[in-house]
Amino acid sequence: MRYKAIIFDLDGVICHTDHYHYQAWKHVADELGIYFDEEINNRLRGVSRMESFEIILERYSGSMTKEEKEEWVTKKNGIYKELLKNMSPADLTAEVKDTLDALREMGLALAIGSSSKNARFILERLGLSGFFDAVSDGNNITRSKPDPEVFIKAAEFLDKKPADCLVVEDAKAGLEAALAGGMECAAVGDAILSNMATWNLKTFSDLLEVVKTI
Ligand code: BG6
Ligand code: MG
Repeated sequence: MRYKAIIFDLDGVICHTDHYHYQAWKHVADELGIYFDEEINNRLRGVSRMESFEIILERYSGSMTKEEKEEWVTKKNGIYKELLKNMSPADLTAEVKDTLDALREMGLALAIGSSSKNARFILERLGLSGFFDAVSDGNNITRSKPDPEVFIKAAEFLDKKPADCLVVEDAKAGLEAALAGGMECAAVGDAILSNMATWNLKTFSDLLEVVKTI
């Protein structure tokens, strides 16, 4: 097999939290009188919480201290976490679960590489606590994607070389991070359009064919 480990982004790959991020940021943006739409929300994929807020503030004419920014992102996260409580194992599709199980059967090490500080909470909501061999997330990094830190840490946690890892991503920033970390990558969703990935997956289960290649 070409890979020994697979590192999955979480949001947009294993599950879909875009609409919850959108609702929470929209609440904050509305309170501040800032225009915000789904297109701007798509730019926040893979980007850290504070960097996401900075993108939203591009349309803000006032000024804000560091402390005020912290307060707004904390407020956003509170709303977001309340919304995440709506998630349950039913949000994990049979295709994703069956593919993960099959990859595990094939002997691959499986990890999460997510910019989110809520990754473990989301995994718990999905019924995936303890499923992955390692979880590298927003809590163990100092630099967010497109920096490769989150994936390099995941490979370290798994005790695998970057060249033996495949990253699965739905965001351009994530594909850039994988490549910068010396890892091949598979794109799902809109990330396919960037034409940067080693593999473009039409559907998640295509991974089973990808890992069988020499
Ligand atoms: C990423 C999402 O997984 O996590 C981004 O794609 C999000 O949209 C980032 O901003 C940080 O998430 P959190 O949960 O730490 O606010
Ligand atoms: Mg993502």
